[in-house]
Amino acid sequence: MEMKDNYGRPTTSLRISITQDCDLNCFYCHNEGCEKEDREMTADEIAKIVEIGTEFGMDKVKITGGEPLVRDDLTEIIGAISQLNIKDVSITTNGVKLGEKVEDLASAGLDRANISLDTLDSETYEKITGKPVLDKVLEGIDSALDVGLHPIKLNTLMLDGINDGEEIERLMEYSLGRGTILQLIELEKVLPENQKIYEKYHKSLDPIEEKIRKRADDVDTRWLMQARRKYLFNGGEIEIVNPMHNSEFCKYCTRLRMTSGGYLKPCLMRNDNLVDVLTPVRNGSKDGIRKAFETAINRREPYFSEEEK
Ligand code: GTP
Repeated sequence: MEMKDNYGRPTTSLRISITQDCDLNCFYCHNEGCEKEDREMTADEIAKIVEIGTEFGMDKVKITGGEPLVRDDLTEIIGAISQLNIKDVSITTNGVKLGEKVEDLASAGLDRANISLDTLDSETYEKITGKPVLDKVLEGIDSALDVGLHPIKLNTLMLDGINDGEEIERLMEYSLGRGTILQLIELEKVLPENQKIYEKYHKSLDPIEEKIRKRADDVDTRWLMQARRKYLFNGGEIEIVNPMHNSEFCKYCTRLRMTSGGYLKPCLMRNDNLVDVLTPVRNGSKDGIRKAFETAINRREPYFSEEEK
């Protein structure tokens, strides 16, 4: 049975970080808003938690990291989740190892993938991520398209002075040409240590959105997903993810997070309201897991409220 939070919002989507490890080192990484953790959930523990999550109306699961593909048992995790009453199983990945694994993941029940791609220039890619592996990522995108995952989203974080000029145009062209969805993401100030990076590289998406609006055939709103706007082109889409100081984004948020250490996390932007869900799993208490979900859903509140606007 669906459970609404104290602001009338359903919680239909569970976003699970399965590891804090990553094979890249992007300078802007916010570690999913988590401090360093000293325990990690097993595949079986993750499935037990998701199963209880479905009782609260969660029918979409997104697997993230760190980088989820650095875990050897990702296929097993996807397999276990897709046996449950979940209608949308997706991963968010840097794409580096995707080519090697995507066929197994699709066979295990993966529906779709979001792949980070901030630039099509090898040197800029290495500057951002610390690794010269852009070709691997592009191969990963092609493999994901080949096995028929749909939709494939390309995540482009807008970085002032790095990819905000012609690069964005190239990425749009690349994505529209492949039938993938380009997701333009605003840099967020998640952890206090991100403050300097935010000040240096944050750029509003408004001017680029204005240009896209003029060129698009139509616009749609994902009401159940943070009221994000999607611009539709013949055969392609561009989605705008602009959470900062955006009360609409929070008002229509339907997401609960889970850290790799097994804590339910009501909001990306906060770390002071986590709920331990792994201890009841390890104690074999289904009621304890239910209680943890109830507590976490009750702790959900919009980070940016109307007054913020
Ligand atoms: P789908 O569109 O359903 O695939 O989900 P998604 O776009 O949220 O998934 P993805 O992991 O690709 O997230 C892209 C970016 O959106 C993240 O890196 C964040 O910057 C931003 N984002 C996603 N969810 C939240 C959220 O709950 N709060 C905030 N503030 N930002 C979010």
